[in-house]
Amino acid sequence: MDLLVVGGGGREHAIIKKLKENPVVETIYALPGNGGIAADAVCVPQISATDIGAIVDFAVSHAVGFAVVAPDDPLALGCVDALHAAGIPCFGPDARAARIESSKVFAKDLMKKYHIPTARYEVFDTSAAALAYLKTASFPIVIKADGLALGKGVLISRSYEEAEDAVRTMMEDRAFGDSGSRVVIEEFLTGPEVSVLAFTDGTAIAPMVSSMDHKRAGDGDTGPNTGGMGTVAPNPCYTEDIARVCMDTIFLPTLAAMRAESCPFKGCLYFGLMLTPDGPKVIEYNCRFGDPETQVVLP
Ligand code: AMP
Ligand code: GLY
Repeated sequence: MDLLVVGGGGREHAIIKKLKENPVVETIYALPGNGGIAADAVCVPQISATDIGAIVDFAVSHAVGFAVVAPDDPLALGCVDALHAAGIPCFGPDARAARIESSKVFAKDLMKKYHIPTARYEVFDTSAAALAYLKTASFPIVIKADGLALGKGVLISRSYEEAEDAVRTMMEDRAFGDSGSRVVIEEFLTGPEVSVLAFTDGTAIAPMVSSMDHKRAGDGDTGPNTGGMGTVAPNPCYTEDIARVCMDTIFLPTLAAMRAESCPFKGCLYFGLMLTPDGPKVIEYNCRFGDPETQVVLP
């Protein structure tokens, strides 16, 4: 069987190396792929990961037997929906389920409605309302762009001045484009962070080994958040007892919540957790394999 993998980073290379272990797999096409991936797959650099029409045409014309959509953008744009509509079996959530990552407001409202532990928050769609709220807030505080922002849309502000700057950058200067047209302002939590990637069909769940992501740009965990500076697995803070608590209070309730909202999640669901003094809480969901976590988790 020939496969297609959408994406072109280290994460996609790790996925392709794993897929190649299956003896039924013949050719793997990577759209667009990269120089490293070229050692393990046939790269198609002229098709970008967000060109959904071209991806579907390629899958159909090459009689691909199975597709894996790895990055957040094509998932949010409905790449899985389009491949399924063209009759191509596919790994990944549809666009409605991908909202668990592509809209922080959707994710936070889901957690509130279904009592899944997370930081307290408020949502704002004008900078004036956000700034008025910040006048009464205590610091540090966390400001998040609603939409996708390459992992950079979260700013932690230690004072009103920093928070004002963050709100103006997102909502007025549109540093993250339309992703900043709404913001979530949330309580600052403390504790070690854990990433758990899990396979799910919407009901059953199989978590992979835990990992720890390092997001800050500077040495000593300082500076702005990035898409990821490095990662280790397993995460030394994630004990079996904590894993059980997460399964009961976070993982299974999240799948049930998505089913109850008529958008069951199928694919790899990423739980970004913080082990706070009040127990594990969700910092973020991703609708896909973590980047760079996948590079240490899959091997
Ligand atoms: P996110 O993209 O939502 O995972 O946020 C990026 C990073 O910002 C996280 O990995 C945390 O280190 C930090 N962060 C996000 N939300 C909070 C919070 N409520 N309290 C403390 N740190 C946070
Ligand atoms: N490592 C964080 C992410 O995949 O978004």
